[in-house]
Amino acid sequence: MSSQIQITPDETSFYKKAATYFMESAARAIRENNSFIVSLSGGSTPKRLYTLLSEDYYRHRVDWAHVHFFWGDERCVPPDHSESNFGMTKLALLSKIPIPPQNIHRIPGEMEPPRDAARAYQKDLKSFFKLDYSIPQFDLILLGVGEDGHTASLFPATEALKEKERLVVANFVSRFNAYRITMTYPLLNYAKKIIFLCAGLSKAKILSEIHRKDRQGILYPAEQVKTSKGETIWLLDRSAASKLPNEVRFQAAHLS
Ligand code: 6PG
Repeated sequence: MSSQIQITPDETSFYKKAATYFMESAARAIRENNSFIVSLSGGSTPKRLYTLLSEDYYRHRVDWAHVHFFWGDERCVPPDHSESNFGMTKLALLSKIPIPPQNIHRIPGEMEPPRDAARAYQKDLKSFFKLDYSIPQFDLILLGVGEDGHTASLFPATEALKEKERLVVANFVSRFNAYRITMTYPLLNYAKKIIFLCAGLSKAKILSEIHRKDRQGILYPAEQVKTSKGETIWLLDRSAASKLPNEVRFQAAHLS
């Protein structure tokens, strides 16, 4: 189990590195297990990655027939709603690649009440992975980080942070006065690989907080996501890394 911060010199190299991670992880997983099982994130940073993956270079280098997509969180809206994470991914990537429809496992955000949507998704996960009691293991989980330290739809001071058993829950977020469906720590932290995608100056402050070594007090949700089974990578562009404490920046891997 390892955790590492990696810093790219600019935004272009950030997205290229993220796309290369995706492509190489897919090739390895398909070679070893004949499938690549990924959990995707919402947000503007992942959206740019999905757009890049849909371009010729990557589109032709990933064996999409063996890729399975799940989502780490979803808004309680129908799939064609402008706020749907699935809808965003469909526009940016799914509609442009030759992926079989049965490989797309979206969260039923439109299902009422939200608790039922979470239960249904947990059931889908267990039946896909053919597991009754143990925890499904993703080859790769992509996540973003919000300026308040949330990741997936694990927001600070929400009930979902306390969840120890369920894999997916409906989480009430008072800031939006709405429920979100989200994967929980037990599921996220069981992945083979987690990559946090953090680009842009707006992420600098929260990243400097999260990675401060001497910090005490409440932990942000994003820093509690760390796989116990493999590798956690914090991929940052130069702007996102610009406020990291010196000793943290010194220990990070600086990519070219
Ligand atoms: C969502 C997310 C959320 C997101 C972060 C970062 O549905 O919005 O899953 O956790 O990844 O808020 O989003 P940005 O990349 O847009 O900053």
